[in-house]
Amino acid sequence: MNVIEIEQLEKTYPEGKKALDTISLVVPQGTIFGFLGPNGAGKTTTIKLLTGILNPTGGEMSVLNLNPAKEAEKLHQLTGVLTEHAGMYDHLTGIDNLSFFGQLFGMSKSDSEAKGMQLLEKLGLSDAAQVKLKSYSTGMRQRLSLARTLIHSPKLLFLDEPTSGLDPESTKSVNELLLELSKEEGTTIFLCTHQLRYAQEICNEYGLMDNGKLLALGSLEQLRKRTFNSYKLTIETDFMPQTIDSKQISEDTYELSLQEKSEIPVLVKEIVQQGGNISQVTPTDYSLEDIYFALLEGGETYV
Ligand SMILES: Nc1ncnc2c1ncn2[C@@H]1O[C@H](COP(=O)(O)OP(=O)(O)OP(=O)(O)O)[C@@H](O)[C@H]1O
Ligand SMILES: [Mg+2]
Repeated sequence: MNVIEIEQLEKTYPEGKKALDTISLVVPQGTIFGFLGPNGAGKTTTIKLLTGILNPTGGEMSVLNLNPAKEAEKLHQLTGVLTEHAGMYDHLTGIDNLSFFGQLFGMSKSDSEAKGMQLLEKLGLSDAAQVKLKSYSTGMRQRLSLARTLIHSPKLLFLDEPTSGLDPESTKSVNELLLELSKEEGTTIFLCTHQLRYAQEICNEYGLMDNGKLLALGSLEQLRKRTFNSYKLTIETDFMPQTIDSKQISEDTYELSLQEKSEIPVLVKEIVQQGGNISQVTPTDYSLEDIYFALLEGGETYV
């Protein structure tokens, strides 16, 4: 089942800015969909349309079989939305904030407190449960906002930069929680992020936006195949002959691009013959970051 279906969706802001230029995509249930792209690409606009905060100026969309523009309230019960400005109460403790929002969703006080404590623990905030929000740090607030988004066990999550202000440890716990939700509860996650390394760890499908247009859509492997027709090899050596086409990435580490894996022994032999001492040869797959930059620089569309 597709949880999100978008067909030729368009948004032109009243001032005339075309933020979304006929984009079409589907997100199947249980997917962690990484929605990527530079500043101003149209990611947040898309989330606002899909959650009924904004109305489209063209095209069709369906979210959990509802029309966000017309059935935003119904949708609100089934989704969790984390955007940059999540309103919570400074004079309430972490757990009281969660319990308050849980009860707004129709949960009992005890259920929302129990679920709230469970989420605080998963997000490394147990010790701050009884602390008023006004003394939370930025990263703590952000994690509490995520807990608020999850309090009513939504089937679908819209997360706009959930880990942007978080330290690596907190980012890891957020990622683990998202993976667990997707695997164990079948939660679908629509994730906008600039943190490509973390996206690569958890997403199974990607959409790449640039300037209102969808440039590419697919799994990492599909995007890799469309973007590169070569292998990447990393060689650690104290000497790299100039005759070999390579890119130096640190004092003794070089990156090379190969058409065939059979080129590896030939290269190694040449480096050794010319006096190089090789300490490591590692074939590496192109990362999401490599693919991201290649697609943006190429500017071609793969959808
Ligand atoms: N309320 C608005 N009124 C007019 N233009 C807007 C409005 N919100 C966004 N835009 C414009 O629409 C385009 C897309 O913005 P959007 O916020 O969707 O980008 P984004 O991909 O989320 O970027 P970022 O990575 O910076 O969060 C930008 O050119 C932006 O200036
Ligand atoms: Mg944004």
